[in-house]
Amino acid sequence: MPVRTPTQGEANARIAGRDKPTPPAVDRQTLIEGLNRDLAGEYQAIVMYIQYSAKLTGPYRRELRALFQSEITDEQGHAQFLADKIATLGGEPTTEPGVVPRADQPREMLEQALAAEKRAIADYEERLRQADAFGDVGLRVSLENQVADETRHKEELERVLAGWNPR
Ligand SMILES: [Fe+2]
Ligand SMILES: [Fe+2]
Repeated sequence: MPVRTPTQGEANARIAGRDKPTPPAVDRQTLIEGLNRDLAGEYQAIVMYIQYSAKLTGPYRRELRALFQSEITDEQGHAQFLADKIATLGGEPTTEPGVVPRADQPREMLEQALAAEKRAIADYEERLRQADAFGDVGLRVSLENQVADETRHKEELERVLAGWNPR
């Protein structure tokens, strides 16, 4: 196959580094608003896991309580990171958690927790794109670590639900 010689325009674009598609820039305010939604989600997760561990009943109470409580520690670290980052960017970190869905039975709690973890992963994927567009590599790395934590939470909840019979 004959090798096509790049046109002068293509060569110039390559020299200028313009042949890579650049994502649209994200302004500081948009990033702060996104991080504040994530922060409200982390507060919501903390409240959810505290309330669900208190309400748990039945033969699996101890195991599920230990699982929920281990996640509180991670979510608290995520919340602190987000609040610090928002303040550093010049924003006001929110103090309002999202609404925790009511659950009375252990299975409902696991399902609600799984939905919350999936939502957090999707939200962080959007924030990763914004961090890239904003040009903050450090934020990208920290958010990737948070996604790894949420993925571990999600998978653990899925493993429990996969073998669940009692309603
Ligand atoms: Fe989290
Ligand atoms: Fe989580």
